[in-house]
Amino acid sequence: MQNSYLPQKAVIEDIIQESPDTKTFTLSLSGDKADSILKYKPGQFLMLSLPGYGEAPFTFASLPDPNGGFQISVRRIGALTKALHTLKIKAIVGVRGPYGNTFPLAKMKHKDLLFVAGGCGIAPLRSLIQYALKQRKAYGKIEIIYGCRTPKDRFYKEEMELWEKNKDTQTHLTVDEPDPTWHGERGVVCVLFPKIKLNPKTSFVFLCGPAIMIKFAIRDLLKLGFREENIYASLERHMQCGTGKCGHCYIKDKYVCRDGPNFSYSEMKQLEIES
Ligand SMILES: Cc1cc2nc3c(=O)[nH]c(=O)nc-3n(C[C@H](O)[C@H](O)[C@H](O)COP(=O)(O)OP(=O)(O)OC[C@H]3O[C@@H](n4cnc5c(N)ncnc54)[C@H](O)[C@@H]3O)c2cc1C
Ligand code: FES
Repeated sequence: MQNSYLPQKAVIEDIIQESPDTKTFTLSLSGDKADSILKYKPGQFLMLSLPGYGEAPFTFASLPDPNGGFQISVRRIGALTKALHTLKIKAIVGVRGPYGNTFPLAKMKHKDLLFVAGGCGIAPLRSLIQYALKQRKAYGKIEIIYGCRTPKDRFYKEEMELWEKNKDTQTHLTVDEPDPTWHGERGVVCVLFPKIKLNPKTSFVFLCGPAIMIKFAIRDLLKLGFREENIYASLERHMQCGTGKCGHCYIKDKYVCRDGPNFSYSEMKQLEIES
């Protein structure tokens, strides 16, 4: 029987510097698995390891490409992520997964969708945005709200320009601290909420970002009439196994790694999580 904790080898195919502290890595399985495609859904995550530096969870930041390549965006924060940032194309890392739940893909069909991301919170939402845009006719209106600290901290700039040009999709951007190159909105994501044109009673909302952003965004979205059961947030907790065994991410009767990391606000209230 194969040990589910044994990582598979993956090769770094490409590296993009997204912002001063974040790189996007395109990976694909290597060795015996070179031709296989990692089957995952938007919102799920993998455990990535580097010998000598440890292992940590990272969300899939893209849909798989036709050759089986997939992306993760990694913020440089501690030992593992600093080591990862020094790697070059063709380096080998360990991956296991996919783990966690996906977003409510069946329920959101034919509905209006609102995505609200703060900082690197755009990474988990990007695979869901790509998923929705790929089958654009299956959804109503789509609006994307993205806020970050400065214009330099913005991720996926080229792709976001395409979203902005797309007449089917409304994309609103804001930064906390503008520089002379920035001519857009200023302030936290909630300053963009008056621009939302979706019907709050029937729309689905997907949020990801710092805990404080999620808290205030949910408060304002509820005031606008969005429904608790249709607001979803991706949560981050310390994780070790990723499979509901070690108990590191346990809250009440749920494991964030197995039952989440994506929860509706109704579920978050039951778990007594504000964000
Ligand atoms: C489901 C999930 C998905 C994630 N997806 C991404 C992603 O797509 N991109 C990304 O850059 N990061 C992501 N993270 C966070 C990432 O796993 C951590 O940043 C990673 O552990 C850093 O490892 P490190 O060895 O570099 O730093 P560490 O030395 O492990 O951590 C550095 C500091 O960050 C804190 N920290 C680490 N992990 C967490 C956590 N989960 N919650 C709160 N504080 C933490 C530590 O307490 C410490 O203070 C995700 C986390 C979870 C739970
Ligand atoms: S990380 Fe081990 S139970 Fe969730």
